[in-house]
Amino acid sequence: MKVAILGFGTVGVGVYEMLENCAGLEPGPVLVRPGKEDKPFKVSSMEAIVNDPEVYAVAEVMGGIEPANSYVAMALEAGKHVVTSNKALVAAHGIELAELARRKGVSFLFSAACGGGVPFLHNLAIAAQSDKILSLGGILNGTTNFMLDAMQAEGKDYGDVLKQAQALGYAEADPTADVSGLDALRKIMLACAVAYDKLPVDGFSREGIESITAADVADFQARGLTCRLITSGGPAGASVYAYVEPVLFPANAPECSVVKNFNMAKYNGENAGAIVLLGQGAGRYPTASAVVRDLCGLGSLEMFRPACVKVRANNAGCVHPYYVRVDADKAGRFSFRECRADGDSVRGVVEPIAVPQMHKLANDIRQEGGSIFFAAVEA
Ligand SMILES: NC(=O)c1ccc[n+]([C@@H]2O[C@H](COP(=O)([O-])OP(=O)(O)OC[C@H]3O[C@@H](n4cnc5c(N)ncnc54)[C@H](OP(=O)(O)O)[C@@H]3O)[C@@H](O)[C@H]2O)c1
Repeated sequence: MKVAILGFGTVGVGVYEMLENCAGLEPGPVLVRPGKEDKPFKVSSMEAIVNDPEVYAVAEVMGGIEPANSYVAMALEAGKHVVTSNKALVAAHGIELAELARRKGVSFLFSAACGGGVPFLHNLAIAAQSDKILSLGGILNGTTNFMLDAMQAEGKDYGDVLKQAQALGYAEADPTADVSGLDALRKIMLACAVAYDKLPVDGFSREGIESITAADVADFQARGLTCRLITSGGPAGASVYAYVEPVLFPANAPECSVVKNFNMAKYNGENAGAIVLLGQGAGRYPTASAVVRDLCGLGSLEMFRPACVKVRANNAGCVHPYYVRVDADKAGRFSFRECRADGDSVRGVVEPIAVPQMHKLANDIRQEGGSIFFAAVEA
């Protein structure tokens, strides 16, 4: 059965190559931009793909919201299954596309959009049918994990490890989506929708790693702590909580052993207990493997179920002690459990505080031109 591929970049080439050796599936036409049809299998017309009766499914791996959204809708309208790796598209239009897929009796799957090669959503979609998912999340951005790991292992500063990540192809020329936590947030949106039938679309708390310094990392290390960028999600009354922030872990935590650009996705099932999945969250073949895995599961798996609705995230009930490094003249805004002066700053651990409150305090300080780094402290 032929699979058309939209986009022939990093992931698209990987999907094409994997389909050449995949029992039961084979690569079909590949959509490229006009003027780039340098091989017979490359086409530049989406109409040619949706009107091709031999095309059974479409893999959307071109990225962006438009025209990806219109092309996916065209494919679904034409009765083709669709698999996508595009988290931005699914976060923005996933519910509507899943509804269209249901009406047409085809599948709309997107494992690769959350965790790359790690089979997180795939497992979560199955688990959510039979177990109550108490919480989910983990390390869902490999770029920031690489950077935090390198800062700790090599004592380098933020700017140096960012350049290193860019040179290795882990970070894009514009790294904002990764380092600001937006990429991780989009992934937790999708995971909450799959596990709880609730797609959080606002009300988030999001803190990336842009304000971390080598001095911060040296201080965590002196305290025996390791920093990771963590996404957290779970049920919160009629809604869900969903947030991204740096977290400090003691040496025996599994998060500390997640090095380089690896991902670690977790969920906690009422019956299954804690399930941890470790693997490559990005890259040509890991991501292509998730796309092809979904293609092999067409018809037997549903990710956005009919009950799925958009909600406002509610993080008010999530409370942590935080490590805070802040300008000395702003330190009075926090209730420090212990702290010490460090040049013009104060650093230490503050009493437990709700996630939205901590994020708001930091935003206010930055808007006033002040400097702050914070990370939740895991017991
Ligand atoms: N790379 C990863 O490790 C990874 C991991 C997880 C998820 N993803 C997701 O997978 C998707 C693809 O990522 P990627 O890294 O493969 O991106 P990429 O290397 O930039 O490839 C995208 C390809 O799509 C083509 N394209 C874009 N718009 C098009 C259009 N309108 N018509 C025809 N072709 C078009 C691009 O062509 P041009 O070069 O001509 O623009 C390019 O060849 C994204 O949604 C990304 O977030 C990627």
